Amino acid sequence: MPQRTPSANLIGVLISGRGSNLLAILDRIAAGDLNAGVALVISNEPSAAGLAAARARGVPTLVIDHRKSATREEHDQEMARALEAAGVRLICLAGYMRLLSGWFVDRFKGRILNIHPALLPSFPGTAAQRQALAAGVKVSGCTVHFVDEQVDSGPIILQEAVPVMDDDTPETLEARILEAEHRVYSRAIALFFSGGLRIEGRRVLGAAPPG
Ligand code: GRF
Repeated sequence: MPQRTPSANLIGVLISGRGSNLLAILDRIAAGDLNAGVALVISNEPSAAGLAAARARGVPTLVIDHRKSATREEHDQEMARALEAAGVRLICLAGYMRLLSGWFVDRFKGRILNIHPALLPSFPGTAAQRQALAAGVKVSGCTVHFVDEQVDSGPIILQEAVPVMDDDTPETLEARILEAEHRVYSRAIALFFSGGLRIEGRRVLGAAPPG
């Protein structure tokens, strides 16, 4: 594939499943609220529902099944080639359920974002909503952060809190957090493209608090 220089505000989105965050980003772009374009959606899971939803909106998609690569890095290299060919400046993980290799993180250093359904550094990893309920916290939420080599680590760009109710189940808490996710991810992407974010150690400066 021919190489394209990263230009405009082009995003590559990595998914593994439902893709509701991807769709929320596409909605914001379509509404003119986010000055960006999704150049490519890649899923490691051929059956990811988000793929069909993206295609229905005319967004190019690609399945790169990790089971067909001998190593994690080989899989990541294939993704990198496709993302670079599409000319993306920013890579957004949106329910991408695989660890990225150090090679991939290094290649796109400072240009990969992730969204997590908890107020990090609390409750990293899977079943974050269940973890929050088990811990008895009264407030949880979501976090958009730069991706580094660790799981759900990396400097935090934005967070939005939601209350935890007495009668919450993991599912009701998930739904409340998801609404916040759909607001906050596009805001973080806009901040990234505004060029005003500075990473200083663990801190990201220049990110306005969610309004
Ligand atoms: C979201 O809760 C996100 O925070 C987490 O995985 C879930 C993906 O949901 N990383 P969706 O595929 O975007 O609907």
